[in-house]
Amino acid sequence: MISFENVAYNYGGGELLSEVSLRLAAGSFHFLTGPSGSGKTTFLKLAYAELMPTSGHVTLFDREVRTLTRDDIANSRRRIGVVHQDVQFLDHLPLTANVQLPLTVSGRAGDPRDLTDLLDWVGLGHLADARPPSLSGGERQRAALARAIIMGPDVVLADEPTGNVDWEMSLRLLKLLVELNRMGKTILVATHDLNLIRQAKSQVSARVLRISKRRIQLAGADL
Ligand SMILES: Nc1ncnc2c1ncn2[C@@H]1O[C@H](COP(=O)(O)OP(=O)(O)O)[C@@H](O)[C@H]1O
Ligand SMILES: [Mg+2]
Repeated sequence: MISFENVAYNYGGGELLSEVSLRLAAGSFHFLTGPSGSGKTTFLKLAYAELMPTSGHVTLFDREVRTLTRDDIANSRRRIGVVHQDVQFLDHLPLTANVQLPLTVSGRAGDPRDLTDLLDWVGLGHLADARPPSLSGGERQRAALARAIIMGPDVVLADEPTGNVDWEMSLRLLKLLVELNRMGKTILVATHDLNLIRQAKSQVSARVLRISKRRIQLAGADL
């Protein structure tokens, strides 16, 4: 699905990520962990072609990102649902319109029943008409997840989806991500919450990637 081959990235200062080689195979579940500022969000941006690597190769669905046209990138993005760290909504629009936005932007009309099912699945059916500012942190995260998957992506990248939510809500979000994985989607969750990763290990066979000293390594069982 997504692979990195000897990728390095820097924003213009020193190198932030170096010698990153890994493959997110279809149907896999990965966590990406590492301290704040270590480059988790940057890695995700490389993985959905928001950033181009400084050197090395990122391949999305068997195509090297540098060879992609803007249209190709837009098409690849439809196959990758992203839950951003800084979840943003259009505050004047109801939840339904916000969740449907990716469809609207791409000129597609969704089936209203699918939207209802999706909102029910994330437990927000009763808030369909609510405006984003009235939602709690956990509701916003679930709305962001619904929006990320409305196009039916193959891959879901979630950036600190349980930041700012309590433990019970974290578990609920984790359960949704595990269910998506069981449906066959490839999942990558960036988080610094090691308890969440420990909890996940009893539910799904997940690999844990750790950023340390600019490199990304597979973590052992010693979390
Ligand atoms: N657009 C940018 N320009 C310059 N530096 C940036 C930019 N975005 C992030 N950084 C820096 O890159 C480092 C890694 O950031 P980030 O990928 O957000 O880490 P994490 O998600 O692990 O907290 C930080 O030091 C951050 O300040
Ligand atoms: Mg981050």
